[in-house]
Amino acid sequence: MTIQDSVILGFNDLDSLGGFANALIHSRQHVSPKRLIAPGPNPAQKLEILNAAGAAPDHGKTSPWHFYEVSPESRELLAKLFANALIDRDSTATPIQIEEARNKAFRGPLLLLVTAKLNNELDNIPVQEKLISAGCAIQNVLLMANALGFGSGLSSGKALYSKNMRELFRLKDKEEPLCFITIGTISTHKPNKERSDASAYSSVF
Ligand SMILES: Cc1cc2nc3c(=O)[nH]c(=O)nc-3n(C[C@H](O)[C@H](O)[C@H](O)COP(=O)(O)O)c2cc1C
Repeated sequence: MTIQDSVILGFNDLDSLGGFANALIHSRQHVSPKRLIAPGPNPAQKLEILNAAGAAPDHGKTSPWHFYEVSPESRELLAKLFANALIDRDSTATPIQIEEARNKAFRGPLLLLVTAKLNNELDNIPVQEKLISAGCAIQNVLLMANALGFGSGLSSGKALYSKNMRELFRLKDKEEPLCFITIGTISTHKPNKERSDASAYSSVF
């Protein structure tokens, strides 16, 4: 369900900020990059999505995150890395499996690598706080993509944490890859997931 659908399907209190936030938050769900197709965000929408990250809670204002947009030219380099990572961990991988690994780099019109910048020698902000900020920045990006009518999906995997990935993106010391974000138009919609409610994860102390 997109936020636009949610207007039709009962979140009819969108005039209030609470109603809008409810619809925006609860209509976001992970979409497999395979189901994210063109068109992706235009340049103005892309900027709006990335600027949403800047509104994350950020103790010390260090912006402890980075979003690397994978350009069309760089996707080939990433494809090679995914294929080699598979071959390295499974010498029996078939050509079809290797092709599948390569294809991951080409899915979705907008592909971002997100990292957390965890060096705290100068600012003394604990690593935990920086990771929380980076997670919030990711969520802001996902919600803004949703607000603009796009679907999004996060992906990780062994290759993400490899030395080759660090080298490809020239990650700095104590800059850690967190996940890829794919953003695009949802090709086929799935019903909304059942979610835990507050009784499952909150209590009064
Ligand atoms: C850091 C991170 C990495 C993820 N990596 C993957 C992944 O590699 N493959 C995948 O299918 N989903 C991945 N996900 C998405 C989760 O599976 C998804 O968020 C979870 O199932 C809950 O679904 P929801 O986002 O619709 O609430 C990742 C999520 C996070 C937070």
